[in-house]
Amino acid sequence: MRILVTGGAGFIGSHTLLALIEQGHEVACVDNFSNAERFIPQRVMELAQSSFPVFETDVSTWGALDAVVKQWGKVDGIIHFAALKAVGESVAQPLQYYHNNLVSLLEVQRAMQEYQIPNLVFSSSCTVYGTPKQLPVNELAPLQEAESPYGWTKRMGEQMLKDAVGANNGLKVCLLRYFNPIGAQPGGRIGELAKGVPNNLVPFITQTAIGLRQELKVFGNDYDTPDGTCIRDYIHVCDLADAHVAALEYLSQSSEPLSVFNVGTGKGMSVLEAISAFERATGVKLPYRFAPRRSGDVEKIWADPAKIMSTLGWKPKHSMEDAMRDAWRWEQTLATERKG
Ligand code: UFG
Repeated sequence: MRILVTGGAGFIGSHTLLALIEQGHEVACVDNFSNAERFIPQRVMELAQSSFPVFETDVSTWGALDAVVKQWGKVDGIIHFAALKAVGESVAQPLQYYHNNLVSLLEVQRAMQEYQIPNLVFSSSCTVYGTPKQLPVNELAPLQEAESPYGWTKRMGEQMLKDAVGANNGLKVCLLRYFNPIGAQPGGRIGELAKGVPNNLVPFITQTAIGLRQELKVFGNDYDTPDGTCIRDYIHVCDLADAHVAALEYLSQSSEPLSVFNVGTGKGMSVLEAISAFERATGVKLPYRFAPRRSGDVEKIWADPAKIMSTLGWKPKHSMEDAMRDAWRWEQTLATERKG
């Protein structure tokens, strides 16, 4: 298939481009490089040993995809990653988040209608479940009010797509609700580029281990969990990338207009367990201390991935140690490049 990947220079987008090419698909990358580096798509090309077009385009500009589709030609599907994703920043700049994340999704749908592009995979998040009443959480769990403008853009994005599918024969959409993506390409050539001080746990761990940060603050040790720290479902970015390829292949063959899948491992892991996994995988001791709870954090959440496993035949192949080792290798690549 010929797949357009918006946000293809980002963390999940770049790994998905690679997975798509490796599984025989043709790709084009669209990115405005506001939160991504130009060398990333180049590295994907090196790793894949093939080249693909890269369009420097802001998808949140109305009509932006016209030039892309006219230039690249027939498109069988779009994977729409392009979005702003920092929860705290979204609280400070809500309009920017609503504008960027929602107008880009509208523009994607406009182009799909205009050029009869049938298949869309949308990046959603486990954030739509809020604090789930039952664990593991499955796709039928009620959605809850979002905790941040970022979270609302995911809720609203899902709703917009449900409405669009209801009205438009021919549009097929897959919503992937990601749990916590971590790790990097195993060779350490591409990975997550955290802007400024990382918000997320694993980039903070690797930056601390390499000496860019003094110590990790573990936010809260008085939660109602076995060791008192929050529990999440960490998924290797390469497994997540494979889930996108599987979702597109499923969409192209299925008559189901809207499908929703959790993408997680089904295993909950505490912050302290994540630190131990990092230390085991790398042999590096991590300095950390307990700090107060971070506002907006959910105490515990992990996925029931039964649906994606049975419907798409997908399953995670990487362990937490694999993810930590790969994230660490990527951090070392960045350190070497900073010196050079
Ligand atoms: N944590 C720390 N110290 C840090 C960073 C994180 O202890 O320096 C803890 C957090 O408190 C949390 C866990 O590590 O318990 C994971 O935190 P992340 O920031 O890595 O990830 P979140 O679970 O907060 O983020 C997820 C998704 C987002 C989504 C968010 C909504 O990745 O897309 O949930 O709550 F918006």
